[in-house]
Amino acid sequence: MSEAIQVHPEYNYKVIRQFAVMTVVWGIVGMLVGVFIAAQLYWPALNFDTPWLTFSRLRPLHTNAVIFAFGGCALFATSLYVVQRTCHVRLFSDKLASFTFWGWQLVIVLAAITLPMGITSSKEYAELEWPIDILLTIVWLSYIINFFGTMIIRKVSHIYVANWFFGAFMLTVAVLHIANSMVIPVSLTKSYSLYSGAVDAMIQWWYGHNAVGFFLTAGFLGMMYYFVPKQAGRPVFSYRLSVVHFWALISLYIWAGPHHLHYTALPDWTQSLGMAMSIILFVPSWGGMINGIMTLSGAWHKLRTDPILRFLVVSLSFYGMSTFEGPMMAIKTVNALSHYTDWTVGHVHSGALGWVAMVSIGAIYHLIPVLFERQKMYSLKLVNVHFWLATIGVVLYIVAMWISGVLQGLMWSAINADGTLTYSFVESLEASMPFYLVRFIGGVFVVLGMLIMAYNCYRTIKGDSLQEPAFEEAKTA
Ligand code: HEM
Ligand code: HEM
Repeated sequence: MSEAIQVHPEYNYKVIRQFAVMTVVWGIVGMLVGVFIAAQLYWPALNFDTPWLTFSRLRPLHTNAVIFAFGGCALFATSLYVVQRTCHVRLFSDKLASFTFWGWQLVIVLAAITLPMGITSSKEYAELEWPIDILLTIVWLSYIINFFGTMIIRKVSHIYVANWFFGAFMLTVAVLHIANSMVIPVSLTKSYSLYSGAVDAMIQWWYGHNAVGFFLTAGFLGMMYYFVPKQAGRPVFSYRLSVVHFWALISLYIWAGPHHLHYTALPDWTQSLGMAMSIILFVPSWGGMINGIMTLSGAWHKLRTDPILRFLVVSLSFYGMSTFEGPMMAIKTVNALSHYTDWTVGHVHSGALGWVAMVSIGAIYHLIPVLFERQKMYSLKLVNVHFWLATIGVVLYIVAMWISGVLQGLMWSAINADGTLTYSFVESLEASMPFYLVRFIGGVFVVLGMLIMAYNCYRTIKGDSLQEPAFEEAKTA
């Protein structure tokens, strides 16, 4: 049994515990669905001729589960924890916190029922139909009120930079969600967008890209700015840079959406503006990444003994990689090759699995012992095993998709001397098959790691602890 560590009775840890545990649960569910659809792309018979098991219905289930259920719970857990710790005050309202938790779980369960049934608005990352959208808005507002309410009653005058990122993430997501979900309902389960044609596409990708920028980036940067310094036991490398990073990032992201609509009916100047803003976006993205990594200055040796820190630092490397790749893909001539290919899927997962999932996993490993009053995780050796499974899994996934994507782009655009296509679509599909198998194997690695995490969390919560001298230094402070 491990010794208890000092807890703070004045903080609301109940809701953080609930969200932290559900992060692990939804992570496993969402990633298992990801592995299943990855398997379907290699073995198509796996849909068993059953409508609700088809790739088209399970793919949005995967994206919603990993982004909003797994990523969402990680963001709720960490933001509501950080705001209390850095404002030195309990949450503004325990009742609202409980409402946010149960309301969010209800949204997830409704999504898990309706999406496989084929009930969808068909807008990517905004597939849920209008009654669920309304519920989601109410739950989100309860979260915003609680977060900002806590900041208003804070006992320290300074607002730590992580809270700026969390605050921008939740306000922007509210605006995006409400604007993009404007529909005319025709029944309880069917609605039509209020916008039409190119305007609809533009609104959708203004939403889609900023869902990436604010849900999958700003919120997780908030997480990074608290948990990297905490786990490294060092202050942020440059606080001034973090503030410049914040303002530059939020003022640039919002313009970059049109890079999702290159060579479409969208006016050409809009596409060029989106491209230019995306290229500039590289600068604050790398500023933030460097700030995070340099926080380890003087503490690099800790990486040898602390697998939790490894998760956090490697997540930043993937963040740097995907935010270098994204601006490149936003260049129209590069996009002509990458668009519609697996290269995009590779980019998505270097950001989503490499950055978002790994920083969340690191943060949750830091949080579990603190929240359940334990000295450290049950086994840091198992955290280390998880780290390697996740890293190898992500690398297998994204390298396979890069090769397959470039191959597809080149095969689709190859033209014979007489102007006919050199390859049929089926030939390009055949060429992609080996890479789909590698992606599936990568996914299995990642899910195995998540199962080990669940076991490790369970034993930690139960109060068990293994003696592991090699990891002695890495106890949670
Ligand atoms: C075990 C881990 C995972 C596996 C095996 C997996 C697998 C897949 C597969 C097979 C697709 C469909 C690709 C296609 O349409 O060709 C996909 C799409 C997607 N996944 Fe994952 N995934 C995993 C984890 C994650 C995580 C953790 C996130 C986010 C936090 C994520 C976000 C997405 C997104 C946003 C898409 C849509 C990509 C696009 O439209 O280009 N995935 N995933
Ligand atoms: C400077 C930062 C970034 C830029 C400029 C950028 C740019 C791009 C571009 C050009 C595409 C391809 C659009 C297409 O051809 O359809 C794309 C797709 C995507 N990116 Fe990024 N990216 C960035 C960072 C990230 C990060 C950090 C993540 C995840 C955490 C991410 C998630 C996605 C997703 C989910 C898509 C697929 C959207 C879809 O078609 O469904 N991006 N990004």
